[in-house]
Amino acid sequence: MLKAKIVATGSYLPEKILTNADMEKLVDTSDEWITERTGIKERRISADGQTTSDMAYEAAKNALKESGIKAGELDLIIVATVTPDMPFPSTACLLQNRLEAKKAAAFDINAACSGFLFALSTAESFIKSGACKRVLVAGADALSKFVDWEDRTTCVLFGDGAGAVVLEAATGDSGILSTDIYSDGSLWEMLKVPGGGSKHPPTKETVKKGLHSIKMRGNETYKIAVRTLESLVTDTLKKNKLKPSQLAALIPHQANLRIIQATANRLGLPLDKVVVNIEKYGNTSAASIPIALDEAVRTGRVRKDDYILLEAFGGGLTWASSLIKW
Ligand code: ACO
Repeated sequence: MLKAKIVATGSYLPEKILTNADMEKLVDTSDEWITERTGIKERRISADGQTTSDMAYEAAKNALKESGIKAGELDLIIVATVTPDMPFPSTACLLQNRLEAKKAAAFDINAACSGFLFALSTAESFIKSGACKRVLVAGADALSKFVDWEDRTTCVLFGDGAGAVVLEAATGDSGILSTDIYSDGSLWEMLKVPGGGSKHPPTKETVKKGLHSIKMRGNETYKIAVRTLESLVTDTLKKNKLKPSQLAALIPHQANLRIIQATANRLGLPLDKVVVNIEKYGNTSAASIPIALDEAVRTGRVRKDDYILLEAFGGGLTWASSLIKW
């Protein structure tokens, strides 16, 4: 039975750091409010002219170097993003070109903060069906370029970055054991960038009305996220016949420390088994899980044969989980 196995990870964070003290100079907020409500202390901001594909390229290069696989050997490249370089071509095609991965088909996936796990699930299906042997999945977002820097309810939350994994077909018992993806489009209005698409094509008016920046019904989204993720993680473990105590690490999407803690509490997991880096990067959307995974692998928190659980929740609404034997 074929499995999709993550054989290498990589990540990239832009150099520029914006601290909570910097945010205090931009909007009516405080380090205390941001820290207590979200756990965020600082976030990374991409440079002017630095694009999502630029960041995905750096993360992908790091992952490929680690894997020993050449870009030319890849069959497929999937980029999860809601902040593509442009509406089309896809960011994945731009990445394919930069990597010179001439054999690889390339496309993007839009599932907001759950995007990386939706892309991982897609890669897993291509590998399990036998259609692809080697796949690169990147999660990359530059939400700082879509934030209303005068809206304190959203601008303090987001940061930029990219993470990537290289997957290979494998026959052993390690690899992705399950990936589950879910959507509820009836709640599309919770979290959106309303302008710039066919509903509100860009005009002077859409710019004036601020339709090109993120709008979020934060508190309602928060409550749905906590409820949804609590049942998602327990269902995922049940499906894989595992107990929470068998997990080496929970690697959650980094949207809010309180959401992460609620999910860990539901599983009765001590916080030292939960990979948290939200204090350094904020919410990097589709990049957050592959960045956290890369850090966990590099710092030895994830080792061979460990069970790890990844989970995410985001705009769409969308949510997803993946159980992996490393
Ligand atoms: N500084 C100071 N005060 C603020 C700030 C700020 N930056 N932002 C909001 N406030 C105020 C509000 O105006 C409100 O004031 P009021 O009581 O006088 O009206 C008060 O703080 C409380 O606001 P809430 O929105 O109720 O605060 P909450 O505790 O819910 O925290 C937050 C807000 C952090 C946004 C939280 O709701 C959250 O994390 N939501 C979920 C986000 C999420 O998971 N999104 C999905 C992934 S993102 C994606 O897919 C791209």
